[in-house]
Amino acid sequence: MTKPGDKAGDGTGGTSRRGFLGGAGLAGAGLIAGMVPARAASPDPMITEVQPWAQFLGPGVDDAPYGKPSPHEAHVIRRNVEWLTADTASSVNFTPIHELDGIITPNGICFERHHAGVADIAPQDYRLMINGLVDREMVFTLQDLLRFPRENRIYFLECAANTGMEWRGAQLNGAQFTHGMIHNCMYTGVPLRTLLEHAGVQPNGTWLLAEGADASAMSRSIPMEKALDDCMVAFRMNGEALRPEQGYPVRLVVPGWEGNMWVKWLRRIEVGDAPWHHREETSKYTDLLADGRARRFTWEMHAKSVITSPSPQAPIYHGRGPTVITGLAWSGVGTIDRVDVSLDGGRNWHHARIDGPSLDKSLHRFYYEFDWDGSPLLIQSRAMDSAGYVQPTKDALREFRGTASIYHMNGIQTWQVHSSGEVENVEVA
Ligand code: MTE
Ligand code: CO
Repeated sequence: MTKPGDKAGDGTGGTSRRGFLGGAGLAGAGLIAGMVPARAASPDPMITEVQPWAQFLGPGVDDAPYGKPSPHEAHVIRRNVEWLTADTASSVNFTPIHELDGIITPNGICFERHHAGVADIAPQDYRLMINGLVDREMVFTLQDLLRFPRENRIYFLECAANTGMEWRGAQLNGAQFTHGMIHNCMYTGVPLRTLLEHAGVQPNGTWLLAEGADASAMSRSIPMEKALDDCMVAFRMNGEALRPEQGYPVRLVVPGWEGNMWVKWLRRIEVGDAPWHHREETSKYTDLLADGRARRFTWEMHAKSVITSPSPQAPIYHGRGPTVITGLAWSGVGTIDRVDVSLDGGRNWHHARIDGPSLDKSLHRFYYEFDWDGSPLLIQSRAMDSAGYVQPTKDALREFRGTASIYHMNGIQTWQVHSSGEVENVEVA
């Protein structure tokens, strides 16, 4: 395997490299010179010799009735940070965002956050109750839910604690660990509005409590306007049934709002006339300010972005020349209008290119292509959303929030790229 220090990235130590087309912009350059050593000194056995995969039949259909990624991609996995929590039943692991592209997170590597482990619920045992200030208290089975009109929507889920370790400075060396408490899936489900209309919300029903069936019985208060706006009772992610880790058979989708509200293994929705102030909205998921007061109900996830590659776990292997910077940007308020990239710690900014769908409350994929001269860089990205909000520096956030917070850290992330191609988590502001 090629190491970052191996500048050419082809095992030749950099001697066979040819320069990139002088000065010309990458986009219009067409053929990228120097990439294919067509006039190599010695023949390449990968081309001139018949390889094993061409000599024998491979496994047939049905070899893997449910397919898995290539064994060569075995490193693309969720990872946890063992010292963060005492037990994996109440813990978190992280999406390997540094290995992904596009905007959809594959189901098998969506980060997991459980307060009492994964509940195992058979579909025939599933029940969803709606009670409280409604005309008709209802219980739905999974089959009942499947008889309502369905919708398909792509949304990101970000844990409020994502990037929380960075409040006190650069800590974890990898985008997976600093920004990986996020995933972006297409959900299929019934609008919560439809079920609430079915039960008939009474005029004083202005709040609801969503409650999970797992051993933590996690519960959160949600204002009725949000419930009627875009919340979903979802049973599919990316086309297939929810994974057990994501709340099989049914979870609540609360677009753009902190992940904690997306109750998994959803068993009950109570309609009330005031918030409940349960544990997850008082002692947890509130933000302690410098003056000792705590902000409550900070539901929306504000605009944020991160460069996923290069990043500490995804160094530059290929040496100088044409280089692709890519990353993710999102906003719980709408779409992302613009992403800028800096190579010098925020002194100069360049427009990044957003590619792929630009959807409300969904991840956006951006790219910035440039010709790297091998000198050290301080790379950053900065997102602007459709509401005109600009992602702040970490220092600007601290000025307003103090440093006692755990949640809602959306400051600009800096990666230091060394000449060797290795990358480190640093902080400049
Ligand atoms: N719902 C239940 N029932 N139990 C839980 O532990 N964790 C919450 C939320 N919903 C949780 C839950 C938290 S803090 C987050 S960030 C998201 O689920 C994580 O969703 P995921 O595991 O699909 O990534
Ligand atoms: Co969370």
